[in-house]
Amino acid sequence: MPLKCAKCGKEKAELSIADGRVRLCEICFIDYYEKKVKETVEKYDMFKPDESLGIAVSGGKDSSSLLYCLRKIFPKLDITAIHINLGIKNYSDHCEMKVKELTDRLDVKLIIKRVEDQGFSIDGFKNTIYRRKICSPCGIIKRHLIDEMAIKAGVKVLATGHNLDDTVGTMLSAFFSEDFTQLVRLKPVLYPHHPLQTKKVKPLLRMTELEDYLYALYSELPIRNQSCPHSIGTQSRETKKLLERLSEGKPGFRYQVLNLFLKKLIPMIEDKLKQPDLTICKSCGFPSSSEVCAYCRRVSLVKSVIN
Ligand code: AMP
Ligand code: FES
Ligand code: ZN
Repeated sequence: MPLKCAKCGKEKAELSIADGRVRLCEICFIDYYEKKVKETVEKYDMFKPDESLGIAVSGGKDSSSLLYCLRKIFPKLDITAIHINLGIKNYSDHCEMKVKELTDRLDVKLIIKRVEDQGFSIDGFKNTIYRRKICSPCGIIKRHLIDEMAIKAGVKVLATGHNLDDTVGTMLSAFFSEDFTQLVRLKPVLYPHHPLQTKKVKPLLRMTELEDYLYALYSELPIRNQSCPHSIGTQSRETKKLLERLSEGKPGFRYQVLNLFLKKLIPMIEDKLKQPDLTICKSCGFPSSSEVCAYCRRVSLVKSVIN
C-alpha cells in the first residue's frame, strides 16, 4: 500500500523531504517549501516584505523556483529579475528564453545583459589558460555583471539561488583548499562595504537541489533542460558526487555541515580575517582589491585572443 502524507494523511506521499524523516504529498510539499524559504528570509533578516529586490535568474531550477516562490509569498516585493546571457553556444539563448517565459508569466520586470554586446563570449576562454576550467572566469564575470546591473537598477538587496548542496559543496572545497575568504562569502547575508555594492542574500540556503527541482516541477515552471557544456567533469561536479556519497544513509549530513560552518567555523575565521582594502578599479570604476579588478583582467584576456 502506498505511504500516506505525514502532514495531511490523505494524499499519497511521493517523496521524503531533506532531513529524510518525513514523507509529503505534492500539495503539502509546496506548503513546506514556501514556509521554509519564508522562515529563512525572516531568520536572517534578508529583506523587508515591501523592499526593492533584485533576483539573479539563470533559467535553472534553483533561481526560477526562488523567483516564483518569493513572488508568491511576498506579493508586495518590488522585484527586478536580472539575467546574463553568457553567449555560450547551444545553451545561453535557451536559458534566456526560459527566463523570459517565467518573468512574462509572473509579470516581473526583467533586465538582461548579453556578454557578446561587451565584445566577447564565455566560449572565447577556450583559447586561454582557462580552457579546462571555463567556470572559473565565467563565475567572476557573472558576479561582476550581476552586481553592476543590480546597482544600476537601484535595487536594495540582491538574491541568488544558491542551494544547500551548492553551499555545502563549496564550503568543503574552500575549507580543504584553505580559501577562507571564499568560505566567509558563503554566509546567508553579505553586507556591502562600499556604496557600489549591494546587500546579498541566499534565501534557498536550506533547500536541497532536489527540493528546488520538485518545487519547479510541481509549480510547472519553465526551466532549462540543458546543462552548460563547460560544466562536465568540473571540480564542483566532483565535489557534489562526493557529497552525495557522504550523505548516503545520513540525510541530515548536509544540514550538520552547514550548521557547523555557519555557527562555529565561519565566526571564528571571520574574526581573524582582515577585510581587504577596497580601491576603485581604474578600468571599470567598480570596487576592487587590486588596481584592475578580476573582471576587467579576465575580459582583457579573452579579448586579446579574439583580436
Ligand atoms: P551558479 O554559480 O551557476 O551555481 O549560480 C548561482 C546563482 O547565480 C544562481 O542561482 C543564480 O541566482 C545566479 N546566476 C547564475 N547564472 C546566472 C545568469 N546567467 N544570469 C543571472 N543569474 C545567474
Ligand atoms: Fe559558466 Fe557554464 S555557466 S561556464
Ligand atoms: Zn574593473
